[in-house]
Amino acid sequence: MTAKPLFLLTDPAHYEVSYVINPWMAPDEWSRDRAHHQAAAREGLLALKRALEAAGAKVRVMAGVMGLPDLVFPANAAIVLDRRALVARFSCSERQGEEDVFLREFEQLKREGFITAVGTFPRGVFQEGAGDCIWDQNRDWFWAGFGQRSVRASLDVIENFFGVPVVSLELVSPRFYHLDVCFLPLTGGEVVYYPPAFSEAARAKIRALVPADLLIEASDADAAAFSVNAVNIGRSIIMARPPERLKKILEAKGYEVTGIDLAPFMMSGGGAYCMTLRLDRSRDEKTSAAGLNRAAAGVP
Ligand code: ARG
Repeated sequence: MTAKPLFLLTDPAHYEVSYVINPWMAPDEWSRDRAHHQAAAREGLLALKRALEAAGAKVRVMAGVMGLPDLVFPANAAIVLDRRALVARFSCSERQGEEDVFLREFEQLKREGFITAVGTFPRGVFQEGAGDCIWDQNRDWFWAGFGQRSVRASLDVIENFFGVPVVSLELVSPRFYHLDVCFLPLTGGEVVYYPPAFSEAARAKIRALVPADLLIEASDADAAAFSVNAVNIGRSIIMARPPERLKKILEAKGYEVTGIDLAPFMMSGGGAYCMTLRLDRSRDEKTSAAGLNRAAAGVP
């Protein structure tokens, strides 16, 4: 039996929306009913944890830290592959305090024997973890976003640290400031993406590398509901409550979609995927029914 997927989550005890670093963030709305949103955040995190476990995953929950509300988005903590972790460098000063907290968590994971190497980006080379760097298990490469939070210079650092190809995609919309809010590769080889978030060159690259019958275009409504920001485990897809249209498309492809109420996290510009970090990704993992490989899909 293969090991269960393992996800890192953060306890939302110190979560709030207290500053604005993306156009979705609404501190005024948050402070109008703080107690309610805090309770809803605790509920939402529990619901996400339960959904991940129901889909066959294990979950590790790290503690939150007062004054670092966005720690609840560990997708931004690091890029992890083959038990190696490359810890993020945040571009906004509001989140830079998270770097040390995540670094300590990965040093702990190393002591526990789960992670074998922990690296960091050079000073000034901003890169916001798996939120901007998504492993595609069917194609054996990282899709990496740059142009909003992460910088182009991060791409070489990723390639050198992991020794795997990196396909870069330029992001052009401040509303879709991380790759994970507009791009989602699925276990069956399909890729869900929201075209307006990408430069023309990036859109062309996606269309050249992913066969048309595997490309699923998200609508404005899908993207605004953070449906692209989903966690896919086997045939299960877990996301903030999706529009019916997208749910039907995914179900028709054989996926089971679980929608959970993540409203308090959407007030910070995040959905299900960014509230998680997958720790057990490895390049040996092959679960695709589509049987795609680098040769078939085109080597970047
Ligand atoms: N408020 C957070 C920020 O702007 C949300 C992060 C969401 N994370 C993600 N991977 N999309 O950084």
